Amino acid sequence: MNKLQVIFNNLLKCKSPQDTVEEGSKSELKKTLSIFDLIVLGIAAVVGTGIFTIIGSAIVGSSDAAGAGSAIVISMVLAAVASVFSALSYSEIAAMMPVAGSAYAYTYATMGELMAWMVGWVLMLEYAIGNITVASAWTGYLVQFLKGFQHILPSWVVNFPLWLRNDYRSMYELCNRYGWDVHDKMPFVHLPFGIELPIAANLPAIGIVLILTILLIKGIKESTKVATIMVGVNMFIILSFVVVGAFYVRPENWVPFAPNGLEGIFSGAFIIFFAYIGFDAISTAAEETKNPQRDLPIAIMGTLFLCTVLYVCVALVLTGVVPVNAIDIQAPLAHAMRFVGIDWYAGLISVGALCALTSVLLIYQLGTTRILYAMSRDHFLPKSWNAIHEKFKTPHIMTWVSGLIVILCGLFMDLNISAELCNFGTFTSFIVICIAVLILRKTEPKRERPFKVPFCPWFPIFGILTCFALMYCKFSAKATSALYFIIWLAVGVLIYALYSYKELRRSEK
Ligand code: ALA
Repeated sequence: MNKLQVIFNNLLKCKSPQDTVEEGSKSELKKTLSIFDLIVLGIAAVVGTGIFTIIGSAIVGSSDAAGAGSAIVISMVLAAVASVFSALSYSEIAAMMPVAGSAYAYTYATMGELMAWMVGWVLMLEYAIGNITVASAWTGYLVQFLKGFQHILPSWVVNFPLWLRNDYRSMYELCNRYGWDVHDKMPFVHLPFGIELPIAANLPAIGIVLILTILLIKGIKESTKVATIMVGVNMFIILSFVVVGAFYVRPENWVPFAPNGLEGIFSGAFIIFFAYIGFDAISTAAEETKNPQRDLPIAIMGTLFLCTVLYVCVALVLTGVVPVNAIDIQAPLAHAMRFVGIDWYAGLISVGALCALTSVLLIYQLGTTRILYAMSRDHFLPKSWNAIHEKFKTPHIMTWVSGLIVILCGLFMDLNISAELCNFGTFTSFIVICIAVLILRKTEPKRERPFKVPFCPWFPIFGILTCFALMYCKFSAKATSALYFIIWLAVGVLIYALYSYKELRRSEK
């Protein structure tokens, strides 16, 4: 065999599904999660920025996307349908191979080491980069919440400087939008050669990420206890929004139902897809699940179903209470309550939003850590990062690495771009999971499948097509995020070529 052939074979080297499963069962991670914990994890990961913030722009539209209007309910069902094919595929593989690492581990067992590394790398977009968006939405709601106490709290707490609650790019954007002089709004460090460095950081976002990182190091059971409380609070707030709001619904607000026709419905589906991201985080905790074969599929499908029902109810009430052109795009649910004159309730909704966003942050941090953990166990990343904390039995170094990625990237990344990059990461992982189901059905036909995707190969194929179509929309619009996505992939290939490939060969000796 010549050298090129050897390299090619190495790139396609798969980890056998049997090894993957055995490694998972030998894991040092504690197996403490029940089906209830998993559904809590799922809802905690899914319900967040999408339903509390993004729903507003999906209904109203923006400068470059038509709004769905009241037909957002159809967009929501469309987005759920796009997710359901991948959710089914996730369920089949997660039940077959209950290991940490999610799509990354499944790719390693089906498509070889290069694809596995790339999927792990792309998953960082979904989890770590997506968390940047959520962390800054968190700051937004914190500010809203504090404003509710402006008569009690000192003014410096309620109105703390903008440069301490925004990244520098957002500061420039704000200054542009309102015609402010940047030098009035943030301090600068003057370096030699006339270079000026703006100083701005989203401190509340950094603070919450730090607190959650420490919480995660203390243990997953403890973290899910916190998530349970958060999910309880935010479910209560959302359900009470539906119940209270229902009394104020005026059916004439639902007419015209779809002001921008199909275009609005599809662009609404594209944006609101963000609200469904997260159910796959359940499978990243597979190694810590008591009865993964039975519980993972139930938890994944159950989460998706519950969230769809909840979202449709919220959307019906929101568009029934507030006329479409009066819907607020920053805090639509809180504003709806203010619209009907219940101001105190708007404050309560900020509390619910803070809980929801905190739990999304928590679960995404957990997901990032577990994927990095699996990748370093397989020698793609330094093995020393994989140390398990003696007392807490959690991968503490990885947990710090995940927290620091969010904090550092959050200093430099534009938030809209981070949200779009998160979507790219998610679509890619969904596509890969659907392909993995098709491959495994051929290569491992006899392996026990406690759960099977119905109508295979059609359902996985529909999953692949819907995700491709949504990604294609962004590519054809030549979005900046599409360019960043390509750069992200290129950096991934470089790290693999310069570090991981050699490390893997060394580990084989
Ligand atoms: N689905 C998650 C949210 O809406 C990402 O925040």
